Amino acid sequence: MSDTPAKIEYSDKDKPNKTPIVLAVAVAIVAAVISVWGINSSTLMAGVNSPSPLPTPPAVLAAPSDKEETDRLLSVGATLHQQQCAGCHSIEAKLVGPSYLEISTKYRDLSEIGFASTHPKNDWDGYDDGPHLHLDKEQQRAIAVWILSSMKGKGGGND
Ligand code: HEC
Repeated sequence: MSDTPAKIEYSDKDKPNKTPIVLAVAVAIVAAVISVWGINSSTLMAGVNSPSPLPTPPAVLAAPSDKEETDRLLSVGATLHQQQCAGCHSIEAKLVGPSYLEISTKYRDLSEIGFASTHPKNDWDGYDDGPHLHLDKEQQRAIAVWILSSMKGKGGGND
């Protein structure tokens, strides 16, 4: 007989086993992540066929308030087109740049067309990059009014 007390064996046997709970929580987290990701990716997919937004929100260009202003903007716009755009764009034909008709399937809004006319984005498939043009707000407004009015009856613009 020795005096050494019997070694006490500790055992984990009686402790509750937490493994199933940990697993269940892990599965729940993974499921939650997958469902959130799933929603996001379907939202992204929904955007694939719609026009991509412009990189910087365009300045808000006001529609002409009366006939006199419309006529003035149309004449400024027509001149601007002749001087700065006609070498690369026409209303219906594809030149160096896409036709205005094609452009108006992408942008139908005065402010968007005016801003897009400065070529901020350069992402048309099959075209070189358009030059960065400095058009002030009134020039953007005039060219956009002129482009949209040239689309009337051709399936583009707002008619
Ligand atoms: C040297 C040729 C050239 C000139 C000059 C030019 N463009 Fe362009 N334009 C392009 C090309 C190429 C594209 C297609 C690539 C791109 O988006 O830059 C384009 C694209 C555009 C777009 C669509 C841009 C977008 O973001 O989707 C608009 C609107 C536009 N041009 C209007 C105009 C107007 C208005 C003028 C005159 C003030 C003008 N362009 C002058 C070549 C030109």
